[in-house]
Amino acid sequence: MNTSPVSYHDDEFRIALDSTSPHRVVPDTGSAEAVLDIGCGAGQTLVTLGNHKRRVGVDVDIEALRFGLHRTTTEGIRVAAAQGEHLPFAESTFDFVYSRVALPYMDIPAALSEMHRVLRPRGRLWLTLHTIDIPATQFRRGNLKGRIYALYTILNGAWFHISGRTFPFVRGLCESIQTERGMRVALGRAGFSKIEFCQTSRHFAVTAER
Ligand SMILES: C[S@@+](CC[C@H](N)C(=O)[O-])C[C@H]1O[C@@H](n2cnc3c(N)ncnc32)[C@H](O)[C@@H]1O
Repeated sequence: MNTSPVSYHDDEFRIALDSTSPHRVVPDTGSAEAVLDIGCGAGQTLVTLGNHKRRVGVDVDIEALRFGLHRTTTEGIRVAAAQGEHLPFAESTFDFVYSRVALPYMDIPAALSEMHRVLRPRGRLWLTLHTIDIPATQFRRGNLKGRIYALYTILNGAWFHISGRTFPFVRGLCESIQTERGMRVALGRAGFSKIEFCQTSRHFAVTAER
């Protein structure tokens, strides 16, 4: 588990609701009927989506979910406290599943396997990923503890690149960086096809199909 302060979610809400913001990165959910956001925080991405029949979010951070529920803009959105690695939904429930800035904090093979299970056949997946820049900055700016954690994140990313698997830190914490190779291995193993990457100066994302 790796939760974020409520101030983070509040800032992301503001960015998500400002369609002119250069920091706004949201998935194209198209005409999907049922959409699931894994690691939704306060629901800051769910609020930007169109008129889907079902908009659902899960997160391990109950405080963030509560914060989102108090914003009127979350009307029509259902949320649940759950881990991406153990989704409380039946198989083939959603036709679009996404995770924005949250997969890097999960046991990736377990989370991908759950995403595949809850997606309908030919359902689409969209995930944002972390490059080495994030732990490298944490290493440069951090104290000793922060540096040890940044090194763990980088090593976990190297292992992910080779094997498509991740390993936990202590007390249930997990964090890694992702590479195209590692994601292809992990997504292929979980049963996904049509894997495509998009990397810009603002984000690194992958899309795939069940
Ligand atoms: C950086 S925030 C991103 C929130 C939101 N998706 C966004 O784009 O702003 C990461 C979120 O992932 C959640 N998270 C971390 N590990 C998780 C897990 N194993 N299962 C579900 N959510 C998780 C955290 O609680 C946090 O809300």
